[in-house]
Amino acid sequence: MYYFIHKNAIKTKYLRLVVYNAPLLYLIDMSERNSIEDARTIEYMFDSIAHRYDLLNRVLSFGIDTRWRKRLYRVLNLQPGQKLLDLATGSGDILKEFLRTNNIIGVGCDRSGQMLNFARKKLNGLEMPSLLVRGDAFRLPFKTKTFDAVTIGFGIRNMRPRVEAMKEIHRIIAPAGRLAILEFFPRQTGVRGNMYKWYSKNVIPRVGKIISGSDFAYRYLPESIRGFPEIEQFEDEMRSAGFTIDAVHQLTFGVVSIVVGRK
Ligand SMILES: C[S@@+](CC[C@H](N)C(=O)[O-])C[C@H]1O[C@@H](n2cnc3c(N)ncnc32)[C@H](O)[C@@H]1O
Repeated sequence: MYYFIHKNAIKTKYLRLVVYNAPLLYLIDMSERNSIEDARTIEYMFDSIAHRYDLLNRVLSFGIDTRWRKRLYRVLNLQPGQKLLDLATGSGDILKEFLRTNNIIGVGCDRSGQMLNFARKKLNGLEMPSLLVRGDAFRLPFKTKTFDAVTIGFGIRNMRPRVEAMKEIHRIIAPAGRLAILEFFPRQTGVRGNMYKWYSKNVIPRVGKIISGSDFAYRYLPESIRGFPEIEQFEDEMRSAGFTIDAVHQLTFGVVSIVVGRK
């Protein structure tokens, strides 16, 4: 495990040392072989598409994804001085949103070193200091009860078993702190639902392959959304990880939602 630290970083006091089997192979229990293999595959997948990740987000969502992240920022309404962890931060778009407009203490964490490289470039230009850490959701390199809020945008879908990841997140959240999940949930019915299903099955994999060069990544995306639970079941999972549900916000006709849980 290594720390990947933004040049202005000042918050190493929030970190705890976690030793992963190289390269970041420690995960969960060894009996969870599928989870370990999943996590490794997902890390490689994101490493391989990192150079095209932002472009594909803009193209495939017609630019609406930036609005979803802004909404996440408004929903949490963090106060100056509060500490935020953006987990599965990827190329750092959510973290950037929070750092641009609020005097918060922002930390980003992700398994993929390549995604973090792009986040670093993006955040370097900002005045607000931030910290980027390479680490895994199942064993976070942060001290207990550190953060006032944790955000995960389009990342929890990749973490299996989800409840185990959310229990670990619960550990690092301060009492009464919040976990906000921004995610595609599979329930879309009616004409809009069918259009969305057609788009995700036919357009996303093709355009994704052309732009990123990866056949697998953008076939995986719609499949992983289909395999994701509906909101009610997901809320139950959050409860079993120790959270109470604070709010649910549906965005863009329910294509994505924000679920906020409280410790
Ligand atoms: C779809 S990207 C989302 C990036 C960013 N949050 C956004 O809004 O664009 C998912 C990210 O989750 C990360 N990820 C997946 N599994 C993870 C895990 N177990 N621990 C930490 N990060 C993980 C991937 O490396 C990837 O960067």
